[in-house]
Amino acid sequence: MDDEFNAEKEAILDDIRSRLKKFEKKRGDLIPILQMIQEKHAYIPPFAIKMVARHLDISTCEVYGVATFYNQFRFHPPGKHPIKVCLGTACHIKGGDIILENFERKLEISEGETTPDREFSIERVACVGCCALAPVGIVGETVHGRMAPSKVEGIILGFKIEKEKEKRKKNGSD
Ligand code: FES
Repeated sequence: MDDEFNAEKEAILDDIRSRLKKFEKKRGDLIPILQMIQEKHAYIPPFAIKMVARHLDISTCEVYGVATFYNQFRFHPPGKHPIKVCLGTACHIKGGDIILENFERKLEISEGETTPDREFSIERVACVGCCALAPVGIVGETVHGRMAPSKVEGIILGFKIEKEKEKRKKNGSD
């Protein structure tokens, strides 16, 4: 797993290194650079922050400060099954925050984070346009309306069973 992570880290760093050459070394390019990294890699890895700071000759604190100010940036890789919990007004009134809390507790991560096995990530989103189904959660591409804590359990359990089946199938074919 460590080797896998190191290889991935190196590939991301190489990619960012070559893309940074297209940006001038001026502070005004900080946001476009962060946007480029997020667009290419779906998140801004902490190790990339140092590289950006070095390129612009500013402190890593400054890069973090700007990146965390805008909530468009994420600092964890998206999970294989990204979970979005709507906290728009209608969903909030119907207990969207309880749904979010349930996902967080079940997966033992906080909103904005990814499980260590990279299976799940959780984020809160604003109204997704189906308020009549509040509270709403989106798991991967599937919209789940009228969410309840028992549905949270069911969704996670469903994925775990699927994964177990796949594992068995794979082991059986080895
Ligand atoms: S507020 Fe959640 S779908 Fe509109």
